[in-house]
Amino acid sequence: MVVPPPPTSPGSSSSWQDAPAPASDANELAARRASHPPNSHGERTIMTIAIIGSGAIGHALAAQFARKKIDVLLANRRGPDSLADIVRELGATITATSVADALRSDVVFLAVPFTSVGDAVREAPAWDGRLVVDATNAIDFPAFTPTDLGGRPSTELVAETVPGARVVKAFNTIPAAVLAIDPASDGGRRVVFLSGDDTGANAEVATLIERLGFAAIDLGRLSEGGRLQQFGGALPVLDLILRPPARRSH
Ligand SMILES: NC(=O)c1ccc[n+]([C@@H]2O[C@H](COP(=O)([O-])OP(=O)(O)OC[C@H]3O[C@@H](n4cnc5c(N)ncnc54)[C@H](OP(=O)(O)O)[C@@H]3O)[C@@H](O)[C@H]2O)c1
Repeated sequence: MVVPPPPTSPGSSSSWQDAPAPASDANELAARRASHPPNSHGERTIMTIAIIGSGAIGHALAAQFARKKIDVLLANRRGPDSLADIVRELGATITATSVADALRSDVVFLAVPFTSVGDAVREAPAWDGRLVVDATNAIDFPAFTPTDLGGRPSTELVAETVPGARVVKAFNTIPAAVLAIDPASDGGRRVVFLSGDDTGANAEVATLIERLGFAAIDLGRLSEGGRLQQFGGALPVLDLILRPPARRSH
């Protein structure tokens, strides 16, 4: 397992930069992005981030982005008007938009039922290496048992619906009510596990997790870490706090 060190200053280790002033709508975000061309390392200084799904997990994720004043688009099945209360509650860094708009972002969080993923990403343009963060769990209801996926990691199936995207599994192990609260807890930081088959994508998502104030723990590939992380694996529902080692007095 690799625990990436926290960035020395926000955004210093990647293209995630300090939170810009909130954008008023999705078009303004797109315009901002266009006005920040790639730097000499090919990095863009502003990344657009979207969450698809505004239920328990989507709302909790949006709350964490709002806490750090990071612009994020939020979309659901019913459309932007249905998100007015959440936007009012979380503030100006949250922009309600359509699913089609959200699907154009650099980073797309999937916070929808596992069985709805295919429908939710239907209108996506070419993924071209953009990041997808899979927060779903494959669960059979009402039995509340892991869905039989023929032994395949659930995020592998999600990845098949977004060809060309770099897919990372994250934020699926913590109950929504816990995910929503301040990750600084009991002298440490709440752990968010991640896994994926693209090490660069894992590192980018780990940086974002750390920027939100969580401790990122990279579990490696989906065939290994993904299985531990997914519903039915060893890690769901654990609420782990990473603390610096205690000092011993001799
Ligand atoms: N709840 C938890 O504690 C928890 C913890 C970890 C992981 N998860 C996983 O996170 C995912 C979301 O769970 P949840 O509890 O947040 O579910 P939820 O409260 O039922 O919310 C689901 C959201 O998905 C949206 N949605 C459904 N189909 C869609 C589609 N085709 N296009 C766009 N949006 C669509 C819904 O839109 P509308 O609002 O318009 O209906 C709703 O906002 C699930 O895969 C779940 O297993 C949940």
